[in-house]
Amino acid sequence: MHVGAAARVTGELEFAGDKSISHRLALISLLNEGQIEITNLSDCVDVKSSLLAATQLGVKISYSNNKVLLQSFISKEPHDHTIIDCGNSGTTARLLAGILTGRAGRHSLIGDESLSRRPMQRIVGPLSAMNAQISSAKNGRLPLTITGSNSLRAIEFANETGSAQVKSAILLAALQAKGKTQIFERYASRDHTERLLIQLNLPVELDSGSICLEGPTKLTGNHSFAVPGDISSAAFFAVAASILPDSQLILKNVLLNPTRTGFLKVLQRMGASVKEHIISEVWEPRGNLSVNSACLSATDIDKAEIPALIDELPALAIAMAFANGISRVRGASELRHKETDRIRDLISQLKIAGVDCQEYPDGFEISGPAKICERVRLDSCNDHRLAMSFAIMALNSRRGLEVTNTDSINISFPNFFTILSKCAQPNN
Ligand code: S3P
Repeated sequence: MHVGAAARVTGELEFAGDKSISHRLALISLLNEGQIEITNLSDCVDVKSSLLAATQLGVKISYSNNKVLLQSFISKEPHDHTIIDCGNSGTTARLLAGILTGRAGRHSLIGDESLSRRPMQRIVGPLSAMNAQISSAKNGRLPLTITGSNSLRAIEFANETGSAQVKSAILLAALQAKGKTQIFERYASRDHTERLLIQLNLPVELDSGSICLEGPTKLTGNHSFAVPGDISSAAFFAVAASILPDSQLILKNVLLNPTRTGFLKVLQRMGASVKEHIISEVWEPRGNLSVNSACLSATDIDKAEIPALIDELPALAIAMAFANGISRVRGASELRHKETDRIRDLISQLKIAGVDCQEYPDGFEISGPAKICERVRLDSCNDHRLAMSFAIMALNSRRGLEVTNTDSINISFPNFFTILSKCAQPNN
């Protein structure tokens, strides 16, 4: 599809609920005896995979006004072998695997081509150490097969990859395991699972660098949540407002959890004009962001910063392409294990666009400011975050860009082009 150039972006924007939080709410319903009422649940395809899995396993979903109601009861009856399709969603596959370790019956998790290439040994290892009956295909990939067990035990685990999905899979299994599970993190990954469990009055203890959960424990009752707007969706617009002259955006009611806002610190360090106004800190911090255009300078991002901005690196790469100087990203080899190899595919396409850049094994280097080539076609490689990053780059080109496979954007942000057309003022 052709994405046109824009003179500026202006206005006030709102976003559907945060994807990571929405997944957790959909999946925790499987462990709750009662009803969970959710306002502003994400409407993206990935979260639909979690909702579909929940319904397949007995959760009843109903819709009332702008709320989603998830009603569940815990059946102890083993079912026949159930095959669950997690689509493109790594969060569904990994978090659900943790839940299913303690659920009666045999379940297999499958996914699309991209998900079937992603590493699963990272959860099979620790969950097996908890005495879970879990196996993957020989290459450590999907399908995963899990036979529920009632003899799960606690473990101590160092989360070396910095993956929040791995941490969450272990915590969800730990709710059903005997003893005190303790997870250590060198750099904090997103903490939505911990915050949700604490909000549900479950026995989670946080210490600097560690998370403890004493199991087994039961989750019952009716609960209600309003999900803040998706900060990873808002990030594309924060970058657009930063790079396009005379832009001014207010991004309303977005998630401002510090384990997710690392990209804001980086943008500010690059000289961007970004202000955070926190509205509430109950459960998950949320508030408004105001972003004005600015002249950006290059920056370096190292390993310690990566977990809090892992999903925003493609968008930050676009900011780096228009910044003065050489920016470097290191310690980000996890990017190679996302929906695509995001280091390889991002850098190969930026080169086609005329950006001076190169890959490192664990990151990349970009020299700016770039002059974007005309009439090029960028391949999003079916990766939603690459597709949106290239669309934002197109705004700051002379005549726009062709971006292929933009349908993948529905994976996380079905409203992306509607919101873009609302705020983008065309180039005259
Ligand atoms: C997610 C964690 C991150 C992130 C993904 C969503 C989550 O993955 O990249 O988009 O919701 O827990 P990892 O845990 O593999 O780093």
